[in-house]
Amino acid sequence: MEKDKSLRQAVQALIFWFRKHKRDLPWRKNADPYKILVSEFLLQQTTVPVAVRYYESFLTAFPTLESLAQASLEEVLRVWSGAGYYARARNLRETAIRLVATHGGVIPQEVSELKKLPGIGDYTARAIASFAFGADAIALDTNGIRVLARLLGKKGSPRRPSFRRELYQVAEILCPKGKASDFNQALMDLGSLICTASEPKCHQCCCSRGCFAFRSGRPQDFPSVPEKPTRQPLFEVACLIVKDGQFLVAQRAPGRWWGHLWEFPRQEINPNESSLAAVRRIAKEKLGLEVHPRAIVTTVRHSVTRYRIYLTGVLAEYQSGEPRGEGYVAFQWVSLADLNQLPSSSPQRRLVQTLLDMAREGSQFALIAEVLNEPRGQVA
Ligand code: ADE
Repeated sequence: MEKDKSLRQAVQALIFWFRKHKRDLPWRKNADPYKILVSEFLLQQTTVPVAVRYYESFLTAFPTLESLAQASLEEVLRVWSGAGYYARARNLRETAIRLVATHGGVIPQEVSELKKLPGIGDYTARAIASFAFGADAIALDTNGIRVLARLLGKKGSPRRPSFRRELYQVAEILCPKGKASDFNQALMDLGSLICTASEPKCHQCCCSRGCFAFRSGRPQDFPSVPEKPTRQPLFEVACLIVKDGQFLVAQRAPGRWWGHLWEFPRQEINPNESSLAAVRRIAKEKLGLEVHPRAIVTTVRHSVTRYRIYLTGVLAEYQSGEPRGEGYVAFQWVSLADLNQLPSSSPQRRLVQTLLDMAREGSQFALIAEVLNEPRGQVA
């Protein structure tokens, strides 16, 4: 009973704190359901700063649900380029198309209806229902799960569905009626600003009086002692093949990773193989091309799910052959200046940026110089 009372007081203090200290996030400026839909797709598997960076440009390109439904996949991917996890962009567009075609362009208010749409799982449906429509729906993101587990003094793995289910049940009881939007976002903000994973600032926390983890003296150990994520390294080369001053790019087949996006053809390096030898082999085996590898340009590092990819760009001179290749649906030769116009993944964009920087700085590589034999102004 006493515990119930102190938890309810902690929740009151939390909502009070939130109203004063909430983060100034662009999707909080109004409760337009379309804008909230876009923000929640962006926030899936992405940090808040990255989502903020893409939110405005996405809405500038597609200001309404209808404009998004009418856009081609290519356009949507181009605007999403660099934000990662491209299935989200495809699903968001599919959702817009479906809503315009069958719901009169109206975003449904009920969690159960929202969950029928592409890319909207239980969490996202609850977030949209509470933020856009004021529904009494609990939505606990990673921060919310951690904060609540600490308040309750609950140990366990946040990844376990049963662990999360129990927290949702308690949250349903603790959340004041009609205040789920503030309750959900207050947990997110407290988790992001104060109740952080490794160094919670309990002396600044509005809830420490009622918090079990604080009283234990080791709040950082709740809900579990964090494990260091280990990522499997993947070593790949990207073939920067040049012909007549243009680079070969390939469009990936629809699929889980980077589907529809354009890239310098790339593949894993074999053990004990040099990057230059790998490019010669991959060009021949995967693309049906003879090339003359000339120089390593750079290596970019990129983490996706449980992989850490080390992608080495190798400049190679085209010699013969017509490009073809498994996993690719189209090829084109593109000038350096036009590469940035194609939708592509973030590591590939970094390769393009490196080439542009080299071009601007007057690279010592003869091939880059050759590409630059075009008028300099073209390399913006
Ligand atoms: N994570 C998921 N949704 C969020 C939101 N609306 N604000 C902040 N972080 C979030």
